[in-house]
Amino acid sequence: MSRPACDIFILFGATGDLAHKKLFPSLYMMESRGHLKVPVIGIARDDIDVSALVERARDGIEKYGEVPIDDAVFKRLADRMGYVSGDYSDPETFQKLHSALGKAKRPLHYLAIPPSIFEMVTQALKASGCAENAGVVVEKPFGRNLETAQELNRVLYEVFPEEGIFRIDHYLGKEPLLNLGYFRFGNTFMEPVWNRNYVKSVQITMAEDFGVEGRGAFYDEAGTIRDVIQNHMMQVLAILTMDPPAASNEESLRDAKVRLFQSIKPLTPKDVVRGRFKGFLDEPGVKPDSTTETYAAVRLKIDSWRWADVPFYIRAGKNMPVTATEVVVEMKQPPQKLFRDCHESNRNYFRFQFKPNTVVAIGVRAKKIGEEMVGQPLELIAQHEQPDEMSAYERLIGDAIAGESTLFARVDEVETAWKVVDPILGDVTPVIDYEPGTWGPTEADALLHHKYGWHAPVLKPVEELVNA
Ligand code: BG6
Repeated sequence: MSRPACDIFILFGATGDLAHKKLFPSLYMMESRGHLKVPVIGIARDDIDVSALVERARDGIEKYGEVPIDDAVFKRLADRMGYVSGDYSDPETFQKLHSALGKAKRPLHYLAIPPSIFEMVTQALKASGCAENAGVVVEKPFGRNLETAQELNRVLYEVFPEEGIFRIDHYLGKEPLLNLGYFRFGNTFMEPVWNRNYVKSVQITMAEDFGVEGRGAFYDEAGTIRDVIQNHMMQVLAILTMDPPAASNEESLRDAKVRLFQSIKPLTPKDVVRGRFKGFLDEPGVKPDSTTETYAAVRLKIDSWRWADVPFYIRAGKNMPVTATEVVVEMKQPPQKLFRDCHESNRNYFRFQFKPNTVVAIGVRAKKIGEEMVGQPLELIAQHEQPDEMSAYERLIGDAIAGESTLFARVDEVETAWKVVDPILGDVTPVIDYEPGTWGPTEADALLHHKYGWHAPVLKPVEELVNA
Protein backbone atom coordinates (compact mmCIF):
# COMPACT_ATOMS: atom_id res chain seq x y z
CA MET A 1 0.00 0.00 0.00
CA SER A 2 1.43 3.35 -0.82
CA ARG A 3 0.63 6.55 1.03
CA PRO A 4 1.24 10.20 0.31
CA ALA A 5 4.84 11.37 0.76
CA CYS A 6 5.85 12.69 4.15
CA ASP A 7 6.78 16.34 4.61
CA ILE A 8 9.19 16.12 7.55
CA PHE A 9 11.68 13.47 8.68
CA ILE A 10 12.06 12.92 12.43
CA LEU A 11 15.06 10.91 13.51
CA PHE A 12 14.79 9.38 16.99
CA GLY A 13 18.20 8.33 18.30
CA ALA A 14 19.83 11.08 16.23
CA THR A 15 23.04 10.94 18.28
CA GLY A 16 23.26 7.13 18.18
CA ASP A 17 25.39 4.72 16.23
CA LEU A 18 22.99 3.88 13.43
CA ALA A 19 22.36 7.55 12.70
CA HIS A 20 26.09 8.23 12.73
CA LYS A 21 27.20 5.35 10.54
CA LYS A 22 24.30 4.79 8.17
CA LEU A 23 21.52 7.35 8.32
CA PHE A 24 23.36 10.66 8.04
CA PRO A 25 25.65 9.31 5.28
CA SER A 26 22.50 8.20 3.42
CA LEU A 27 20.74 11.54 3.97
CA TYR A 28 23.87 13.25 2.66
CA MET A 29 23.81 11.12 -0.52
CA MET A 30 20.12 11.93 -0.99
CA GLU A 31 20.94 15.60 -0.60
CA SER A 32 23.76 15.34 -3.13
CA ARG A 33 21.43 13.77 -5.70
CA GLY A 34 18.75 16.39 -5.06
CA HIS A 35 16.42 13.74 -3.63
CA LEU A 36 16.06 15.14 -0.13
CA LYS A 37 13.30 17.74 0.01
CA VAL A 38 12.05 17.69 3.60
CA PRO A 39 13.32 19.08 6.93
CA VAL A 40 15.26 16.61 9.09
CA ILE A 41 14.69 16.93 12.84
CA GLY A 42 16.91 14.89 15.13
CA ILE A 43 15.67 13.95 18.57
CA ALA A 44 17.66 12.37 21.41
CA ARG A 45 18.37 12.61 25.11
CA ASP A 46 21.70 14.37 24.72
CA ASP A 47 21.62 17.93 25.90
CA ILE A 48 23.22 19.47 22.82
CA ASP A 49 22.15 22.04 20.27
CA VAL A 50 21.60 21.66 16.57
CA SER A 51 25.12 22.79 15.67
CA ALA A 52 26.56 19.90 17.73
CA LEU A 53 24.27 17.49 15.90
CA VAL A 54 25.38 18.97 12.57
CA GLU A 55 29.03 18.43 13.57
CA ARG A 56 28.31 14.86 14.58
CA ALA A 57 26.50 14.22 11.30
CA ARG A 58 29.50 15.63 9.41
CA ASP A 59 31.82 13.30 11.29
CA GLY A 60 29.65 10.28 10.40
CA ILE A 61 29.50 11.28 6.75
CA GLU A 62 33.27 11.80 6.62
CA LYS A 63 34.01 8.47 8.28
CA TYR A 64 31.34 6.26 6.79
CA GLY A 65 30.12 8.05 3.67
CA GLU A 66 30.66 6.74 0.17
CA VAL A 67 32.12 9.91 -1.33
CA PRO A 68 34.28 12.78 -0.09
CA ILE A 69 32.17 15.46 1.50
CA ASP A 70 31.25 18.47 -0.63
CA ASP A 71 30.83 21.55 1.55
CA ALA A 72 28.02 23.03 -0.54
CA VAL A 73 26.01 19.80 -0.36
CA PHE A 74 26.67 19.45 3.35
CA LYS A 75 25.55 23.03 3.96
CA ARG A 76 22.24 22.28 2.25
CA LEU A 77 21.78 19.27 4.52
CA ALA A 78 22.80 21.23 7.63
CA ASP A 79 20.34 24.00 6.73
CA ARG A 80 17.43 21.59 6.81
CA MET A 81 18.41 20.08 10.17
CA GLY A 82 16.84 20.77 13.54
CA TYR A 83 17.22 19.18 16.96
CA VAL A 84 14.96 18.46 19.91
CA SER A 85 16.57 17.22 23.10
CA GLY A 86 14.75 15.55 25.94
CA ASP A 87 13.87 12.42 27.77
CA TYR A 88 11.52 10.10 25.88
CA SER A 89 9.57 9.49 29.09
CA ASP A 90 8.82 13.20 29.48
CA PRO A 91 5.67 14.47 27.69
CA GLU A 92 7.32 17.87 27.35
CA THR A 93 9.86 16.39 24.91
CA PHE A 94 6.98 15.51 22.62
CA GLN A 95 5.41 18.95 23.02
CA LYS A 96 8.72 20.40 21.84
CA LEU A 97 8.69 17.96 18.94
CA HIS A 98 5.14 19.00 18.10
CA SER A 99 6.23 22.64 17.89
CA ALA A 100 9.25 21.64 15.79
CA LEU A 101 6.87 20.04 13.25
CA GLY A 102 5.75 23.58 12.38
CA LYS A 103 3.45 23.53 9.37
CA ALA A 104 4.31 19.95 8.43
CA LYS A 105 1.26 17.70 8.20
CA ARG A 106 2.76 14.27 7.48
CA PRO A 107 5.76 13.41 9.63
CA LEU A 108 7.82 10.26 9.21
CA HIS A 109 9.29 9.06 12.52
CA TYR A 110 12.42 6.95 12.18
CA LEU A 111 12.92 4.95 15.40
CA ALA A 112 16.68 4.37 15.60
CA ILE A 113 16.20 3.48 19.27
CA PRO A 114 16.04 0.20 21.24
CA PRO A 115 12.81 -1.77 20.67
CA SER A 116 12.29 -1.85 24.45
CA ILE A 117 11.22 1.82 24.34
CA PHE A 118 9.10 1.66 21.17
CA GLU A 119 5.86 1.48 23.13
CA MET A 120 6.71 4.48 25.30
CA VAL A 121 7.73 6.55 22.28
CA THR A 122 4.84 5.60 20.01
CA GLN A 123 2.30 6.22 22.77
CA ALA A 124 3.89 9.60 23.46
CA LEU A 125 3.74 10.43 19.75
CA LYS A 126 0.03 9.64 19.80
CA ALA A 127 -0.70 11.59 22.99
CA SER A 128 1.14 14.67 21.70
CA GLY A 129 -0.57 14.70 18.30
CA CYS A 130 2.75 13.99 16.52
CA ALA A 131 1.43 10.70 15.15
CA GLU A 132 -1.41 12.25 13.17
CA ASN A 133 -1.08 11.25 9.50
CA ALA A 134 2.37 10.01 10.40
CA GLY A 135 4.46 7.07 9.30
CA VAL A 136 7.01 5.15 11.33
CA VAL A 137 10.21 3.37 10.36
CA VAL A 138 11.49 0.49 12.50
CA GLU A 139 14.63 -1.57 12.13
CA LYS A 140 15.07 -5.30 12.27
CA PRO A 141 15.10 -7.44 14.39
CA PHE A 142 11.30 -7.36 14.41
CA GLY A 143 10.91 -9.19 17.72
CA ARG A 144 12.89 -12.15 19.04
CA ASN A 145 10.44 -14.83 17.90
CA LEU A 146 6.91 -15.09 16.58
CA GLU A 147 5.30 -14.13 19.86
CA THR A 148 7.38 -11.01 20.46
CA ALA A 149 7.04 -10.00 16.79
CA GLN A 150 3.25 -10.16 17.22
CA GLU A 151 3.57 -8.07 20.38
CA LEU A 152 5.68 -5.49 18.53
CA ASN A 153 3.08 -5.31 15.77
CA ARG A 154 0.35 -4.82 18.36
CA VAL A 155 2.32 -1.91 19.84
CA LEU A 156 2.77 -0.29 16.43
CA TYR A 157 -0.86 -0.86 15.39
CA GLU A 158 -2.09 1.05 18.42
CA VAL A 159 -0.72 4.17 16.80
CA PHE A 160 -0.05 3.53 13.09
CA PRO A 161 -1.91 1.70 10.32
CA GLU A 162 0.00 -1.02 8.45
CA GLU A 163 0.51 1.24 5.42
CA GLY A 164 2.25 3.76 7.67
CA ILE A 165 4.71 1.18 9.09
CA PHE A 166 8.02 0.78 7.26
CA ARG A 167 9.95 -2.24 8.59
CA ILE A 168 13.51 -1.97 7.35
CA ASP A 169 15.39 -5.09 6.36
CA HIS A 170 18.23 -3.39 4.52
CA TYR A 171 18.79 -6.43 2.29
CA LEU A 172 15.54 -5.51 0.54
CA GLY A 173 17.12 -2.27 -0.64
CA LYS A 174 20.27 -3.89 -1.98
CA GLU A 175 20.98 -3.56 -5.67
CA PRO A 176 21.91 -7.25 -6.15
CA LEU A 177 18.68 -8.44 -4.50
CA LEU A 178 16.64 -6.14 -6.72
CA ASN A 179 18.60 -7.47 -9.66
CA LEU A 180 17.91 -11.06 -8.66
CA GLY A 181 14.18 -10.35 -8.96
CA TYR A 182 14.72 -8.45 -12.19
CA PHE A 183 16.87 -11.18 -13.70
CA ARG A 184 14.39 -13.91 -12.81
CA PHE A 185 11.30 -12.20 -14.16
CA GLY A 186 12.86 -10.11 -16.91
CA ASN A 187 14.15 -13.12 -18.88
CA THR A 188 12.05 -15.70 -20.68
CA PHE A 189 14.61 -18.46 -20.33
CA MET A 190 14.54 -18.48 -16.53
CA GLU A 191 10.98 -19.47 -15.68
CA PRO A 192 10.86 -22.82 -17.57
CA VAL A 193 13.90 -24.15 -15.68
CA TRP A 194 13.26 -22.54 -12.31
CA ASN A 195 11.67 -25.52 -10.61
CA ARG A 196 12.14 -29.02 -9.25
CA ASN A 197 12.37 -30.53 -12.75
CA TYR A 198 15.64 -28.75 -13.48
CA VAL A 199 17.06 -27.53 -10.18
CA LYS A 200 19.00 -30.02 -8.11
CA SER A 201 19.83 -27.97 -5.03
CA VAL A 202 20.32 -24.41 -3.83
CA GLN A 203 22.92 -22.98 -1.46
CA ILE A 204 23.06 -19.52 0.04
CA THR A 205 26.18 -18.42 1.91
CA MET A 206 26.54 -15.23 3.88
CA ALA A 207 30.08 -15.20 5.28
CA GLU A 208 31.75 -12.38 7.19
CA ASP A 209 35.46 -12.44 7.95
CA PHE A 210 35.03 -10.31 11.06
CA GLY A 211 33.55 -10.95 14.49
CA VAL A 212 30.94 -9.03 16.43
CA GLU A 213 32.87 -5.74 16.31
CA GLY A 214 31.99 -4.34 19.70
CA ARG A 215 28.35 -5.43 19.42
CA GLY A 216 28.83 -8.34 21.85
CA ALA A 217 25.83 -7.54 24.04
CA PHE A 218 23.49 -7.13 21.06
CA TYR A 219 24.82 -10.21 19.32
CA ASP A 220 24.64 -12.37 22.44
CA GLU A 221 20.92 -11.56 22.64
CA ALA A 222 20.39 -12.22 18.95
CA GLY A 223 22.65 -14.91 17.46
CA THR A 224 22.98 -15.65 13.76
CA ILE A 225 19.53 -17.13 13.22
CA ARG A 226 17.79 -14.02 14.55
CA ASP A 227 20.36 -11.58 13.23
CA VAL A 228 20.47 -12.56 9.57
CA ILE A 229 18.68 -15.83 8.77
CA GLN A 230 15.11 -14.97 9.82
CA ASN A 231 15.29 -11.74 7.83
CA HIS A 232 18.09 -11.15 5.28
CA MET A 233 18.54 -14.76 4.20
CA MET A 234 14.81 -15.47 4.13
CA GLN A 235 14.29 -12.43 1.93
CA VAL A 236 16.98 -13.63 -0.47
CA LEU A 237 15.35 -17.06 -0.51
CA ALA A 238 11.95 -15.51 -1.20
CA ILE A 239 13.09 -13.45 -4.18
CA LEU A 240 14.96 -16.47 -5.50
CA THR A 241 12.08 -18.92 -5.26
CA MET A 242 8.71 -17.14 -5.12
CA ASP A 243 6.18 -17.45 -7.90
CA PRO A 244 5.96 -14.47 -10.23
CA PRO A 245 4.06 -11.63 -8.53
CA ALA A 246 0.54 -11.32 -9.92
CA ALA A 247 1.13 -7.71 -10.97
CA SER A 248 3.71 -5.01 -10.61
CA ASN A 249 1.97 -3.19 -7.79
CA GLU A 250 3.35 -2.91 -4.26
CA GLU A 251 1.28 -5.61 -2.63
CA SER A 252 1.77 -8.29 -5.28
CA LEU A 253 5.46 -8.68 -4.57
CA ARG A 254 4.85 -8.97 -0.86
CA ASP A 255 1.93 -11.36 -1.43
CA ALA A 256 4.22 -13.59 -3.49
CA LYS A 257 6.84 -13.64 -0.75
CA VAL A 258 4.29 -14.46 1.93
CA ARG A 259 2.94 -17.37 -0.16
CA LEU A 260 6.49 -18.66 -0.43
CA PHE A 261 7.16 -18.38 3.32
CA GLN A 262 3.89 -20.18 3.98
CA SER A 263 5.08 -23.14 1.92
CA ILE A 264 8.37 -23.58 3.80
CA LYS A 265 8.20 -26.35 6.35
CA PRO A 266 9.04 -25.08 9.85
CA LEU A 267 12.59 -26.11 10.65
CA THR A 268 13.37 -28.87 13.13
CA PRO A 269 16.51 -29.30 15.27
CA LYS A 270 17.72 -31.91 12.72
CA ASP A 271 17.85 -29.18 10.08
CA VAL A 272 20.32 -26.92 11.87
CA VAL A 273 23.94 -26.86 12.97
CA ARG A 274 24.96 -24.01 15.24
CA GLY A 275 28.54 -22.87 15.75
CA ARG A 276 30.38 -20.30 17.83
CA PHE A 277 33.80 -18.89 17.06
CA LYS A 278 36.41 -19.47 19.73
CA GLY A 279 36.83 -16.25 21.66
CA PHE A 280 33.18 -15.16 21.47
CA LEU A 281 32.77 -15.64 25.22
CA ASP A 282 35.62 -13.17 25.81
CA GLU A 283 33.92 -10.42 23.81
CA PRO A 284 32.79 -7.47 25.95
CA GLY A 285 29.07 -7.71 26.67
CA VAL A 286 28.80 -11.48 26.10
CA LYS A 287 27.54 -13.47 29.09
CA PRO A 288 30.09 -16.00 30.39
CA ASP A 289 27.57 -18.84 30.11
CA SER A 290 26.25 -17.76 26.70
CA THR A 291 25.15 -20.47 24.27
CA THR A 292 24.44 -18.03 21.43
CA GLU A 293 25.54 -19.03 17.93
CA THR A 294 27.77 -16.94 15.69
CA TYR A 295 27.27 -19.38 12.81
CA ALA A 296 24.29 -21.34 11.64
CA ALA A 297 23.73 -23.74 8.78
CA VAL A 298 20.20 -24.81 7.94
CA ARG A 299 18.56 -27.14 5.48
CA LEU A 300 15.06 -26.31 4.41
CA LYS A 301 12.30 -27.58 2.22
CA ILE A 302 9.73 -25.69 0.25
CA ASP A 303 6.62 -27.75 0.04
CA SER A 304 5.21 -26.55 -3.27
CA TRP A 305 4.61 -27.81 -6.80
CA ARG A 306 7.59 -25.77 -7.90
CA TRP A 307 10.11 -26.83 -5.27
CA ALA A 308 9.07 -30.11 -3.58
CA ASP A 309 12.13 -32.29 -2.82
CA VAL A 310 14.69 -29.68 -3.81
CA PRO A 311 17.06 -29.18 -0.87
CA PHE A 312 17.83 -25.59 0.13
CA TYR A 313 20.84 -24.86 2.30
CA ILE A 314 21.65 -21.60 4.02
CA ARG A 315 24.74 -20.87 6.08
CA ALA A 316 25.81 -17.63 7.68
CA GLY A 317 28.56 -16.83 10.11
CA LYS A 318 30.98 -14.43 11.70
CA ASN A 319 34.76 -14.90 11.58
CA MET A 320 34.64 -16.95 8.39
CA PRO A 321 37.56 -17.05 5.93
CA VAL A 322 36.04 -14.39 3.64
CA THR A 323 33.33 -11.75 3.47
CA ALA A 324 30.95 -12.79 0.72
CA THR A 325 27.27 -13.38 0.09
CA GLU A 326 26.52 -15.75 -2.73
CA VAL A 327 23.68 -17.93 -4.02
CA VAL A 328 24.33 -21.00 -6.14
CA VAL A 329 21.48 -22.75 -7.90
CA GLU A 330 22.72 -26.09 -9.14
CA MET A 331 20.94 -27.59 -12.11
CA LYS A 332 20.38 -31.29 -12.75
CA GLN A 333 22.64 -33.27 -15.09
CA PRO A 334 21.73 -33.74 -18.75
CA PRO A 335 19.76 -37.02 -18.87
CA GLN A 336 21.95 -38.69 -21.50
CA LYS A 337 25.72 -39.03 -21.27
CA LEU A 338 26.80 -38.40 -24.84
CA PHE A 339 30.32 -37.25 -24.07
CA ARG A 340 33.07 -39.20 -22.42
CA ASP A 341 33.90 -36.41 -20.05
CA CYS A 342 30.33 -35.84 -18.92
CA HIS A 343 30.48 -37.04 -15.40
CA GLU A 344 28.78 -35.91 -12.27
CA SER A 345 31.14 -33.13 -11.46
CA ASN A 346 30.27 -31.30 -14.70
CA ARG A 347 27.78 -28.95 -13.27
CA ASN A 348 25.46 -26.35 -14.70
CA TYR A 349 24.54 -23.66 -12.26
CA PHE A 350 23.47 -20.08 -11.73
CA ARG A 351 25.62 -18.03 -9.38
CA PHE A 352 24.38 -14.76 -7.90
CA GLN A 353 26.97 -12.89 -5.88
CA PHE A 354 25.79 -10.01 -3.71
CA LYS A 355 29.06 -9.27 -2.01
CA PRO A 356 31.83 -8.28 -2.53
CA ASN A 357 30.69 -7.79 -6.15
CA THR A 358 27.37 -7.91 -7.91
CA VAL A 359 27.75 -10.90 -10.20
CA VAL A 360 25.28 -12.99 -12.16
CA ALA A 361 27.05 -15.97 -13.70
CA ILE A 362 25.84 -19.09 -15.48
CA GLY A 363 28.07 -22.15 -15.18
CA VAL A 364 28.17 -24.18 -18.40
CA ARG A 365 30.39 -26.65 -20.24
CA ALA A 366 31.73 -25.95 -23.69
CA LYS A 367 33.94 -27.97 -26.03
CA LYS A 368 37.64 -27.36 -25.83
CA ILE A 369 39.00 -26.39 -29.23
CA GLY A 370 40.77 -29.40 -30.71
CA GLU A 371 40.32 -32.89 -32.10
CA GLU A 372 38.70 -34.46 -29.13
CA MET A 373 35.10 -34.10 -27.97
CA VAL A 374 36.04 -32.96 -24.54
CA GLY A 375 34.84 -29.92 -22.77
CA GLN A 376 35.68 -27.50 -20.04
CA PRO A 377 33.70 -25.56 -17.46
CA LEU A 378 33.05 -21.91 -18.24
CA GLU A 379 31.10 -19.16 -16.63
CA LEU A 380 28.95 -16.88 -18.75
CA ILE A 381 28.93 -13.62 -16.90
CA ALA A 382 25.59 -11.88 -17.29
CA GLN A 383 26.44 -9.01 -14.99
CA HIS A 384 29.36 -7.84 -12.94
CA GLU A 385 29.54 -4.57 -11.13
CA GLN A 386 30.81 -3.12 -7.95
CA PRO A 387 27.80 -3.32 -5.66
CA ASP A 388 25.49 -0.65 -4.40
CA GLU A 389 25.80 2.50 -6.35
CA MET A 390 22.95 3.65 -4.20
CA SER A 391 23.29 2.21 -0.71
CA ALA A 392 20.43 0.13 0.62
CA TYR A 393 19.75 2.67 3.36
CA GLU A 394 19.65 5.57 0.95
CA ARG A 395 17.16 3.75 -1.27
CA LEU A 396 14.98 2.72 1.67
CA ILE A 397 14.93 6.10 3.41
CA GLY A 398 13.97 7.67 0.09
CA ASP A 399 11.17 5.14 -0.40
CA ALA A 400 9.85 5.59 3.15
CA ILE A 401 9.78 9.37 2.73
CA ALA A 402 7.96 8.92 -0.59
CA GLY A 403 5.44 6.56 1.07
CA GLU A 404 6.50 3.59 -1.11
CA SER A 405 6.30 0.40 0.92
CA THR A 406 7.21 -2.33 -1.60
CA LEU A 407 10.74 -2.76 -0.24
CA PHE A 408 9.68 -2.99 3.39
CA ALA A 409 8.71 -6.13 5.25
CA ARG A 410 4.94 -6.44 5.67
CA VAL A 411 3.51 -7.79 8.92
CA ASP A 412 2.64 -11.21 7.47
CA GLU A 413 6.09 -11.60 5.87
CA VAL A 414 7.72 -11.06 9.23
CA GLU A 415 5.38 -13.38 11.06
CA THR A 416 5.49 -16.22 8.51
CA ALA A 417 9.31 -16.02 8.43
CA TRP A 418 9.37 -16.35 12.24
CA LYS A 419 7.12 -19.40 11.99
CA VAL A 420 9.83 -21.10 9.92
CA VAL A 421 12.71 -20.47 12.34
CA ASP A 422 10.87 -20.44 15.69
CA PRO A 423 11.42 -24.17 16.38
CA ILE A 424 15.22 -23.86 16.05
CA LEU A 425 15.71 -20.78 18.26
CA GLY A 426 17.58 -21.14 21.54
CA ASP A 427 19.28 -24.24 22.85
CA VAL A 428 17.42 -26.87 20.84
CA THR A 429 20.78 -27.95 19.37
CA PRO A 430 24.26 -27.71 20.89
CA VAL A 431 26.52 -24.88 19.88
CA ILE A 432 29.82 -26.18 18.47
CA ASP A 433 33.03 -24.15 18.74
CA TYR A 434 35.03 -23.34 15.61
CA GLU A 435 38.33 -21.62 14.96
CA PRO A 436 38.02 -18.05 13.71
CA GLY A 437 38.91 -17.86 10.02
CA THR A 438 37.40 -21.26 9.19
CA TRP A 439 34.09 -22.27 7.60
CA GLY A 440 32.50 -23.21 10.92
CA PRO A 441 31.80 -26.66 12.39
CA THR A 442 32.38 -29.55 9.97
CA GLU A 443 29.18 -31.07 11.40
CA ALA A 444 27.37 -28.76 8.95
CA ASP A 445 28.58 -30.98 6.07
CA ALA A 446 26.24 -33.69 7.30
CA LEU A 447 23.23 -31.49 6.47
CA LEU A 448 24.02 -31.76 2.77
CA HIS A 449 22.45 -34.50 0.69
CA HIS A 450 25.34 -34.69 -1.71
CA LYS A 451 29.05 -35.23 -1.48
CA TYR A 452 30.39 -32.00 -2.97
CA GLY A 453 30.28 -30.04 0.26
CA TRP A 454 29.41 -26.43 0.73
CA HIS A 455 30.04 -24.06 -2.13
CA ALA A 456 32.80 -21.56 -1.37
CA PRO A 457 31.99 -18.14 -2.83
CA VAL A 458 34.08 -17.25 -5.87
CA LEU A 459 36.29 -14.30 -5.09
CA LYS A 460 37.89 -13.31 -8.36
CA PRO A 461 38.58 -9.69 -9.13
CA VAL A 462 35.88 -8.33 -11.42
CA GLU A 463 38.29 -7.97 -14.40
CA GLU A 464 38.99 -11.71 -14.31
CA LEU A 465 35.31 -12.51 -14.59
CA VAL A 466 34.75 -10.84 -17.92
CA ASN A 467 34.03 -13.29 -20.74
CA ALA A 468 36.91 -13.67 -23.15
C1 BG6 B 1 23.04 -6.67 9.84
C2 BG6 B 1 23.51 -7.60 10.92
O1 BG6 B 1 21.65 -6.67 9.76
O2 BG6 B 1 23.58 -7.08 8.59
C3 BG6 B 1 25.03 -7.67 10.96
O3 BG6 B 1 23.01 -7.17 12.17
C4 BG6 B 1 25.58 -7.99 9.58
O4 BG6 B 1 25.47 -8.63 11.91
C5 BG6 B 1 24.99 -7.05 8.54
O5 BG6 B 1 26.99 -7.84 9.63
C6 BG6 B 1 25.43 -7.43 7.14
O6 BG6 B 1 24.97 -6.49 6.23
P1 BG6 B 1 25.76 -6.21 4.89
O7 BG6 B 1 24.94 -5.21 4.18
O8 BG6 B 1 27.10 -5.70 5.28
O9 BG6 B 1 25.86 -7.54 4.17
